[in-house]
Amino acid sequence: DWTSESFVEHTIEQLRKKLGNDKVVMALSGGVDSTVAATLVHHAIGQNLYCIFVDNGLLRKDEFEQVLHSYQDMGLNIKGVDSKSHFYQQLDGLSDPEAKRKAIGKSFIDIFDQEAHLIEDVKWLGQGTIYPDVIESVSVKGPSATIKSHHNVGGLPDFMKLKVVEPLNTLFKDEVRAVGRTLGIDEKILSRHPFPGPGLAIRILGDITEEKVAILQEVDAIFIGGLRKWDLYKDVWQAGAMLLPVQSVGVMGDERTYERVVALRAVTSVDGMTADWAHLPYDFLAEVSNDIINKVKGVNRVVYDISSKPPATIEWE
Ligand code: XMP
Repeated sequence: DWTSESFVEHTIEQLRKKLGNDKVVMALSGGVDSTVAATLVHHAIGQNLYCIFVDNGLLRKDEFEQVLHSYQDMGLNIKGVDSKSHFYQQLDGLSDPEAKRKAIGKSFIDIFDQEAHLIEDVKWLGQGTIYPDVIESVSVKGPSATIKSHHNVGGLPDFMKLKVVEPLNTLFKDEVRAVGRTLGIDEKILSRHPFPGPGLAIRILGDITEEKVAILQEVDAIFIGGLRKWDLYKDVWQAGAMLLPVQSVGVMGDERTYERVVALRAVTSVDGMTADWAHLPYDFLAEVSNDIINKVKGVNRVVYDISSKPPATIEWE
């Protein structure tokens, strides 16, 4: 019978045998899979695991700093890389969703390749691939955050020549969470909603600017903070806000305003393949909407997405 305890014990032992004194490099995302995978490898080989966490400038508000600190607290050998300007530069002027995804994927590869080169004599690439990724290794929407799905992006970066170690590739998501709990990983990380690799770039419809990212980060933080405050976070499979490429008329005192519209999206789902819009309480939506309009400069209208998938995908791009 499978238990997370025996899996952990067996896997650490296997990793120790397989890796010996070799060095492993791994990109972490703050998500469940890469965190659990890295923790297993860390238990096996300690400081010979080199973790890299890239700030692409498209994460949630304060997420880079918070996640970096939790990784440091966990004792991981982690390097945070501020690549915001590189990503913004590569995204400059792009509005097509697939073009944005490609630019982000390529930028990530460039940064990771550069960082991997700084580690002398590294032999392995660690990945948080789980069983469903093995079956369906390329997302229908194009390159995802995982390094694997970028095999077809062009010339093979050097880190692709590394041997691959994927300790979770036989597990389903709920088993990964169970393993994470056995390893003592913070529940806040384990119960985190999924977040797309291209981050807020595919929630800002149209082109990306730092100003738009900053606005969306504030809106998103109010929405997600509200879900936590109202104890609704765990009832929702995924939630986020979209910055729409339209402005709408409003009034403030005697003044007429012409400002941005944001859409809130929250869904229930089992695996993200199909999804229903979450029937969140009206009082909650009212509070969040008021908070957003009062606190986020430049936004005067909030709408709630009541579309299910199919046909409406979870992300708007
Ligand atoms: P959709 O929008 O297709 O999303 O209903 C289903 C799930 O996939 C995530 N998603 C992505 N994840 N790279 C990713 O890593 C992507 O390009 C991407 N597009 C969508 C989405 O957040 C949801 O969890």
